[in-house]
Amino acid sequence: MSLSGPGVEQYPSLFRAGEINGVKMANRSVVSPLTRASATEDGIVTDQMARYYGSYAKGGWGLVMTEGVYIDLKYSQGYTFQPGIATDEQRDSWRKVVDAVHAEGVPIFMQIFHCGAINQGNRWVEGSIAPSVVTPKGEQIPRYRGGAGGFQTPREITRDEMAEVVQSYADAARRAIEVGFDGVEVHGANGYLPDEFLTAYTNQRDDEYGGPIENRIRFHCEVMQAVRDAVPDHPVGVRISQTKVNDFEYAWPGGNEDAKVVFPALAKTGIDFIDCSSHLGLDPIFGTEHSLSGLAREYTGLPVMANGKLAQPEDAETALTRGEGDFVAIGKAALADYNWPRKIAGGEAVVPFNPGMTMPYATLDCYEAFWDANPTGIPAEKIEARDVTEGA
Ligand SMILES: Cc1cc2nc3c(=O)[nH]c(=O)nc-3n(C[C@H](O)[C@H](O)[C@H](O)COP(=O)(O)O)c2cc1C
Repeated sequence: MSLSGPGVEQYPSLFRAGEINGVKMANRSVVSPLTRASATEDGIVTDQMARYYGSYAKGGWGLVMTEGVYIDLKYSQGYTFQPGIATDEQRDSWRKVVDAVHAEGVPIFMQIFHCGAINQGNRWVEGSIAPSVVTPKGEQIPRYRGGAGGFQTPREITRDEMAEVVQSYADAARRAIEVGFDGVEVHGANGYLPDEFLTAYTNQRDDEYGGPIENRIRFHCEVMQAVRDAVPDHPVGVRISQTKVNDFEYAWPGGNEDAKVVFPALAKTGIDFIDCSSHLGLDPIFGTEHSLSGLAREYTGLPVMANGKLAQPEDAETALTRGEGDFVAIGKAALADYNWPRKIAGGEAVVPFNPGMTMPYATLDCYEAFWDANPTGIPAEKIEARDVTEGA
């Protein structure tokens, strides 16, 4: 949908129409994937979720990306009440979401997800799998329900399981397109299974998937190739990061040299876009002039989504004009105000993110309860001392 108002002229790059592999977007704002842990226990999508996603479409976003959606009934689910796309029943339950978003003329992509070792709630199996037997750093995130304390230690994924998981990503992508999604993003970032292959300290393998960066990006590439082949006519992309939900310090050990390997290798699989999540923001890295997303763009020429601390429209506009991305994915500010693009276009104030919106859980019920209790504003007593800076 096309927006109007003084903001459209003030932020011309943000409100310029865009396209990824034939899917048209009215502007460059993307709802960043946001885990809401609000499906049924069996991963079936609810009417509440359809209303939620439809609200973004009404709010004028150029593209809606779903939360991370698990891909099999084995080890991929990481959060209790996470939605799935592992079965035909789960697939069909997404139709109301797709319809609600399409009713406003807005495209929607699904983010497909395997938690790897970052498992704090799996309805289907006990335990977790990862490239190597390494207990994840940090602690489970209470606001995603079901988890407290440290993570369990994963067992090493077998080669047969690796092939099965690659196939499950492909099957999940196919199901997403079958039910009407316009495109698919593989969650290859933030510490989950593919990122555990890419990350030096969680990948201690001595086969062709471990060691040098060319090997550590191999699993991502196999997944992307399989997804590409499964849905040849629709946009396919991958999310990449350095930092993780459980580690905000990690930086690629080879710096820019790693980026020169990672991004071209991914592009070679024939994907259509790269989404870079930079929890810490878009400052230049590795002694270059660019953030991670800017480097992805430079080294591939593909459309790139920039993400991280772009809630202020001036910052989003600057990221676009500086070549850090072709699109901006907005996380917490989207969660705080579903109408962010419409209000920015209209020159209206947006509702700022408040950690109380994800307390005690990052669910739709808790979000709605927050507003029911405070219909006119942000209640001081709900603002937790600690900031919710990051997410899944
Ligand atoms: C509650 C919450 C849930 C999130 N869930 C996901 C997710 O499912 N998949 C993902 O790739 N990133 C997820 N993230 C990360 C965001 O997409 C985004 O990358 C991060 O919040 C930084 O962007 P921001 O500064 O605009 O908030 C989540 C973040 C939050 C706050």
